[in-house]
Amino acid sequence: MSTITVHLTSADGATTHLQCRTGQSLMEAAVAANVAGIEADCGGLLTCGTCHVYVRAPHAATLPPPDADESAMLDFTAAARQPNSRLSCQIRLDESMQGLAVDLPASQH
Ligand code: FES
Repeated sequence: MSTITVHLTSADGATTHLQCRTGQSLMEAAVAANVAGIEADCGGLLTCGTCHVYVRAPHAATLPPPDADESAMLDFTAAARQPNSRLSCQIRLDESMQGLAVDLPASQH
């Protein structure tokens, strides 16, 4: 286990820089740090779609792609799905994600 830095930018442009342990999900790291804009109503069970993020380059292209269940849930997010949309509960942090940067939608509901 190691530590990486990730960056979450809210719709109003404020960026939170988080030091995160690998092995947890991006959602878990954001919730633990009380990052506004990640609701995660289902606690990571892939049934709420309120942990929606937009992943910036280069990680948008290098993350493991969403599986069928995540992709299906992404069709029900409050903010419009984009090609770089992901559910942060499904992003398991590892060393390859050092510097991961995501934008948060204006609302998760
Ligand atoms: Fe509910 Fe991610 S926390 S789908």
